Amino acid sequence: MKITSEQFGITSAGDEVRLFSLTNNQGTEVKITNYGGIIAAIKVADREGKIDDVVLGHDTLEGFLNRSRYFGAVVGRYANRIAHGRFTLNGDSYSLATNNGANHLHGGLKGFDKVVWEARELSNGLQLEYLSKDGEEGYPGNVRATINYSLTPANELRIEYLATTDKETIINLTNHSYFNLAGEGTILRHELTLNADAFTPVDKGLIPTGEIRSVANTPMDFTSVAAVGARIGDDYEQLKFAGGYDHNFVLRGGAEELKQAATIYEPRCGRVMEVFTTQPGMQFYSGNFLDGSIVGKQGVPYVRHSGCCFEPQHFPDSPNHPEFPSTVLKPGEQYQHTTVYKFSVR
Ligand code: BGC
Repeated sequence: MKITSEQFGITSAGDEVRLFSLTNNQGTEVKITNYGGIIAAIKVADREGKIDDVVLGHDTLEGFLNRSRYFGAVVGRYANRIAHGRFTLNGDSYSLATNNGANHLHGGLKGFDKVVWEARELSNGLQLEYLSKDGEEGYPGNVRATINYSLTPANELRIEYLATTDKETIINLTNHSYFNLAGEGTILRHELTLNADAFTPVDKGLIPTGEIRSVANTPMDFTSVAAVGARIGDDYEQLKFAGGYDHNFVLRGGAEELKQAATIYEPRCGRVMEVFTTQPGMQFYSGNFLDGSIVGKQGVPYVRHSGCCFEPQHFPDSPNHPEFPSTVLKPGEQYQHTTVYKFSVR
């Protein structure tokens, strides 16, 4: 693997932002910027050897600064929603920034996707580090987060998430890349398998109700392969609430083990992506809120379903659901999760 870097731009606060490029011997290239830890491009061959960029985003830093939909970014401190931005920990109540109606989404007004990370080039990839101060966006504790990105000869983009705290807190980190394996059009004909027998239904505000519902006999069942768009218009309350898929799936397998979460295949170009993770859940989001108003790379407007996200994570709003796996991090503990996005062709 080879790593190079160039200047990407300067933020309004005067911070220099760099764009790193990781390449392997298969000709795959992954571009990552230390602004928001954003994966700005993944260029990978199709069945015929043609290279395309399979993630949405922008060509310039300004694009990412001005029009964030979390394209490619690290999300934290808490990925997805916390109801009313409120939770209690050891009897203390905390109030977080609310930025999604009455709720807290993806870390708040200035989450991990909108900060400049300290970057270090490693022999096998890139390391980003960020110190989130006690009280940031309302969260307790000084949290030091580290993200390690590497690209293997087997075309695996590996992301390792690490964090420590000096005061008991909550944490839930993921990546928000929007994938489109064809590099254009929508993802409705992409063929998807999810290794999930259940999901966490939501209310109209997309907050989990607490129920863990079987996917059986619902449009949420991707245990055998189905096109993403095949049932998206079905008359199913959960799809209507979200305008498509925007749900946390409960993954099969042990909470801490690296297990396969998803396989997605684009039949025309032959690209396949497999997702592996140590996380207990994964948000599958079919890009429902993209409405053409954001113009992305090469002047392309991102319309509804232009891309879809696979966000391995703990369940949304876990701090308010003691029945869900815990997202509490204590001083002296090491938060550690790994996600792998593996590319191949069929
Ligand atoms: C959420 C969506 C949200 C989107 C923001 C996804 O992770 O589940 O509800 O609109 O992020 O781009």
